[in-house]
Amino acid sequence: LTPGLVSLLVLFLLQRSNTSLVRLNDNGYEDLVIAIDPGVPEDGKLIEQIKDMVTTASTYLFEATQKRFFFKNVSILIPENWEGSPEYKRPKHESYEQADVRVAAPALPGRDEPYTRQFTECGEKAEYIHFTPDFVLGKKQNEYGPSGRLFVHEWAHLRWGVFDEYNEQKPFYSGKSKKIEATRCSTGITGKNRVYKCQGGSCTENFCKINSTTKLYEKDCQFFPNKVQTEKASIMFMQSIDSVLEFCNAENHNQEAPSLQNIKCNFRSTWEVISNSEDFKNTTPMAAPPPPPVFSLLRISERILCLVLDKSGSMSLYNRLNRMNQAAKYFLLQTVENGSWVGMVHFDSAASVKSELIQIKSDSEKNKLLESLPTVALGGTSICSGILNPQIDGSEIVLLTDGEDSTTGSCADAVKQSGAVIHLIALGPNADSAVTEMTTDEAVNNGLIDAFGALTSENADPTQKSLQLESKGLTLNNDTWMNDTVIIDSTVGKDTFFLITWEKQPPSISLWNPNGTLTEAFTQDTLSKMAYLRIPGTAQVGTWTYSLQAKANTEILTMTVTSRAANSSVPPITVNAKMNKDTNSFPSPMIVYAQVLQGYLPILGASVTAIIESNSGKTQVLELLDNGAGADSFKDDGVYSRYFTSYSENGRYNLKVRAHGGTDSARRSLQYPLNRAAYIPGWVVDGKIEQNTTRPETTEDTQTILENFSRTASGGAFVVSQVPDTTNVPLPDLFPPSQITDLDATSEGDQINLTWTAPGDNFDVGTVRQYIIRISGSIIDLRDNFDDALQVNTTDLSPKEANSKETFAFKSGNISEENITHIFIAIQSVDKSNLTSKVSNIAQVALFIPQADPGPDESQPNPNPGESHPNHDSGVNISTVVCQWWGLLCLLWLSFTSFIKVIPKFIFFEAIVNGIVFLISLSEDLSLIYRNAFDLWVLILYPTTLLNSVTSS
Ligand SMILES: *[C@@H]1O[C@H](CO)[C@@H](O)[C@H](O)[C@H]1NC(C)=O
Ligand SMILES: *[C@@H]1O[C@H](CO)[C@@H](O)[C@H](O)[C@H]1NC(C)=O
Ligand SMILES: *[C@@H]1O[C@H](CO)[C@@H](O)[C@H](O)[C@H]1NC(C)=O
Ligand SMILES: *[C@@H]1O[C@H](CO)[C@@H](O)[C@H](O)[C@H]1NC(C)=O
Ligand SMILES: *[C@@H]1O[C@H](CO)[C@@H](O)[C@H](O)[C@H]1NC(C)=O
Repeated sequence: LTPGLVSLLVLFLLQRSNTSLVRLNDNGYEDLVIAIDPGVPEDGKLIEQIKDMVTTASTYLFEATQKRFFFKNVSILIPENWEGSPEYKRPKHESYEQADVRVAAPALPGRDEPYTRQFTECGEKAEYIHFTPDFVLGKKQNEYGPSGRLFVHEWAHLRWGVFDEYNEQKPFYSGKSKKIEATRCSTGITGKNRVYKCQGGSCTENFCKINSTTKLYEKDCQFFPNKVQTEKASIMFMQSIDSVLEFCNAENHNQEAPSLQNIKCNFRSTWEVISNSEDFKNTTPMAAPPPPPVFSLLRISERILCLVLDKSGSMSLYNRLNRMNQAAKYFLLQTVENGSWVGMVHFDSAASVKSELIQIKSDSEKNKLLESLPTVALGGTSICSGILNPQIDGSEIVLLTDGEDSTTGSCADAVKQSGAVIHLIALGPNADSAVTEMTTDEAVNNGLIDAFGALTSENADPTQKSLQLESKGLTLNNDTWMNDTVIIDSTVGKDTFFLITWEKQPPSISLWNPNGTLTEAFTQDTLSKMAYLRIPGTAQVGTWTYSLQAKANTEILTMTVTSRAANSSVPPITVNAKMNKDTNSFPSPMIVYAQVLQGYLPILGASVTAIIESNSGKTQVLELLDNGAGADSFKDDGVYSRYFTSYSENGRYNLKVRAHGGTDSARRSLQYPLNRAAYIPGWVVDGKIEQNTTRPETTEDTQTILENFSRTASGGAFVVSQVPDTTNVPLPDLFPPSQITDLDATSEGDQINLTWTAPGDNFDVGTVRQYIIRISGSIIDLRDNFDDALQVNTTDLSPKEANSKETFAFKSGNISEENITHIFIAIQSVDKSNLTSKVSNIAQVALFIPQADPGPDESQPNPNPGESHPNHDSGVNISTVVCQWWGLLCLLWLSFTSFIKVIPKFIFFEAIVNGIVFLISLSEDLSLIYRNAFDLWVLILYPTTLLNSVTSS
């Protein structure tokens, strides 16, 4: 058997995924959840400010979307540790993990930038918005502008998958106008490019210098917008400018700017992307102004959970009853948080309450529940009898069944209408289809233990949650060994729990702590075929070693290690994983995403693998990458991704992810997060720059080394259909190479140097056969008529294996179009079966030295960015500017330019200097193969009521 757990049986965990509950009803967004983190100190003003923010955002959103969308009702989740109030209700299906907006401490102290966690493709929904308490309290208005407008900026990231139109990595570009322009949308936004420095109360304003390598402004140059102006677009550039009320649309969109919006969305404007969304297609503009949003205040309360366990006759097959009991014991002993209320119901053809709700405070309550687990499997299966009891709001039901019940459909609707959250764990391949329908989103797990281990509270403080450090299984013969190590890092160690299970005979077990001391004996539970050990206090940091020796043939041993945060003020390292969708039809590829974070800080350099197991137990192992190529949207954002195409059969597949940080390999990224609202560097007021704040410097060393760690996480399940039967015929090659998304170009003289990450024969696996490189003077021609563009000779270029760095140089000399200012370059890859990839992102090199600002007078808006300025000799112009402001140095430059003009053999140098000097890279959006995929994550069951008998206690 494979790295997966346990046997040939398939089991399904159907649980809620942590995705938004938001629904668009007519024109109003409903069920928006804004959650206040349990770590935020009590402050009633936060609630008032959230209400103000959403109310002003609603009006702004309505106008910005041409009277289409507004916020209709919003729930504010209040932490359990805040004082109660009669106006606070109990949440139903709303939970912290599903919140659209999280109000939580900054990722680093003092770093209050509001941002959206977004790592999927253009047009797809993002994960959540993170606001800090200081931001919500209005203490960051000077930095980011009014919070209502800002919320609309972030909402556009979250809901419609659009991207920013400013770019701090590429703040300037050389426009067709042959001028250096600030990256922005639209170009109608006016302002000044200046170096502005303040020291000891006095500030100086200087012209920007040009970097001789990039031919653009140097790093300390910033674009300062005019405080008073008339341009209305765009919200994704700087919604904080008073006049900005709209998104950039097809008419005023700036296709030249190296913005993420252009890179990710194939040069489409934000409004074009929004107009293509399902939300937009399903609405028409409203005539009347919208009502103000309605708020519900929901206070998290104690977790109430009922285990509803199937003990019907079919549970006696394949050791199911015992495996259920192992997993349930693990859940009760380790996963469930102290303070939770837990009850237990058994069912076969009828249900009976085996334990009333009791509050878990210590081992004695746990033991009482353990005694109530079923011992005999007998009778029919009636899932409905197990769950059709009155429920109370927000209570959870963990329903475990082998699902062999054809009458399930009869209660599916009632369950959907009810108020409880149902986590369904279905065992075996026969789970009735109605069972799957009752829950709206599903996750197959290879191990019951993983499935139960994933059922941590969706509202608990992350520092209280049980985290899985290891979960593995092996099939062994008599006397053979399962030897391995587990790393306990300093962010965890409290409540560390080692669990071993077997099928036939108890193995011999040894566990050594990092000092090499043998630990005390495990508690053996021979009836349930498991042994466990809880390390008292905080487990020693370091590498723990274990040796298990099987005592029977074809024995299956499993090892699970979990722990909790060592210190409630240090967020633990966490991993979570998902597929880009829940259902898929062959041959469309899927994407695996795994996020590795510490609190909100991305962890880079970890080794992350996905283990994908099919219904019949076939396992694929994929190395996930954070390289910004292929399936991965952003390099170094702590999200590791990969295409998955190795479908072996129809049916369910289950995803599990392991992340490992070796010695000196993993780092915390301290970079500003992506997809945030633009920081206001200052305003130009009456021709002068006014600055109200200075942004805290990010340290030069923007990464800190992290200790060794290991984590495993269950990533849920997905269903694949239409896979052809391959028993007699091999599958035809249906997978093209993935799109290149990181093509970059630089120039030296008339030589253009390209770099990119190699795609593979099948998306990002294998080696492509050939690259087709084409160039054009028009970005849109190249995008829309790639096959007609001039092809570059690539006979010397032999492709490398997927994910290697590729480089290629060619001479630009032979481009024949006239009057071009830039050369645009794109690549298409071809595989062995002649399948072609999507055309890459478009890289460009400018064929001129761009103009700097025209001098000490005010820079004017450029109403016609496409128009060039033929009267300016750009070289001279730069010299003049530079000389005006940088005296001596610039004199040197002038003499140098004259010098090379005099000496013929240097003429070609001038060509270099004036020629191809500037590089910029634009990427197309990643392939939008899944845009129309059925979104299973939106619907969620919510109950009205908990087992009556149970609640009475
Ligand atoms: C000019 O830009 C290059 C490339 O970004 C950079 O390495 C170099 O340090 C810059 N030079 C100056 C003087 O800032
Ligand atoms: C483990 O060893 C370290 C030094 O190697 C020592 O400081 C520590 O006290 C030891 N811990 C235990 C629990 O023995
Ligand atoms: C596993 O560990 C045990 C005890 O440390 C050792 O005796 C045995 O040789 C090891 N087996 C393998 C295959 O490494
Ligand atoms: C396993 O091996 C031990 C000794 O090596 C032997 O005593 C025992 O009978 C074997 N068990 C099985 C199930 O083969
Ligand atoms: C600077 O801040 C003050 C007070 O917050 C405000 O009145 C003023 O308008 C701000 N100035 C600019 C240029 O934003």
